[in-house]
Amino acid sequence: MRKINISGNWKLNKTASETKALLVELKDAVATAQKTEIVICPTFVSLSVAGEILQGSNIKLGAQNLFWQESGAFTGEISATQLKDVGCEYVIIGHSERRQYFHESDSTVNKRLIAALNAELLPIVCIGETLEQRESEETFSVIESQLEGALAEVPEAAMSQIALAYEPVWAIGTGRTATPEQAEDVHRFIRRKIQSLYSEQISANLIIQYGGSVKPANAFDLLKQPDIDGALVGGASLDADSFAGIVDAAEKIEG
Ligand code: PGA
Repeated sequence: MRKINISGNWKLNKTASETKALLVELKDAVATAQKTEIVICPTFVSLSVAGEILQGSNIKLGAQNLFWQESGAFTGEISATQLKDVGCEYVIIGHSERRQYFHESDSTVNKRLIAALNAELLPIVCIGETLEQRESEETFSVIESQLEGALAEVPEAAMSQIALAYEPVWAIGTGRTATPEQAEDVHRFIRRKIQSLYSEQISANLIIQYGGSVKPANAFDLLKQPDIDGALVGGASLDADSFAGIVDAAEKIEG
């Protein structure tokens, strides 16, 4: 059985002291959740304080990115070991904002993914098409090549550590969510592709989260789709009540 994963991606929001205050609220708001894997990904400078606050809670800590080298002359970068050291269990890789604004490519996504796996961090690898690609009916071919690029040389044994997040770029931060059917279509496609790249068992156990304007009001209908196993939440994760509303929706999914 796949455990639903609700991850909050705080992006470039909240100072360390604001992080502290929001996490105190959030811990309380989701304290009764039992079935759901809950992850919060604050900015790098807040990870340390977040790790301390989340100790003993049902919220796991994640980072929004990492660099593939362990150490050395790479000004401004952060390594997997550094993330582990401050208590991170998860790391988001290849978010569309990284691809769009910071020249992330499938090949750099792959390097980051391998580095995360080597350090025993659990990667959440983001893929998704732009509006233009969807309108020119390239969605499936884009997803296919993003998957092949991201997962190059990733062995079958590592696949149980990886979650994927399908995030249509046109739905991120726009208030325009994919319909549950649109999302499910792509999730099903991803699962089949993973089956052909690996095996039926790997594909059946793979967590595939949906991201793009997920809110308490649309979360249940998305999460009840057979191939949607969670959400990667941006805007709505910055408010304790709305994030807790999404976790509540996840707790209500049967199975
Ligand atoms: P959003 O962001 O929920 O604000 O659309 C999702 C994401 O970028 O992960």
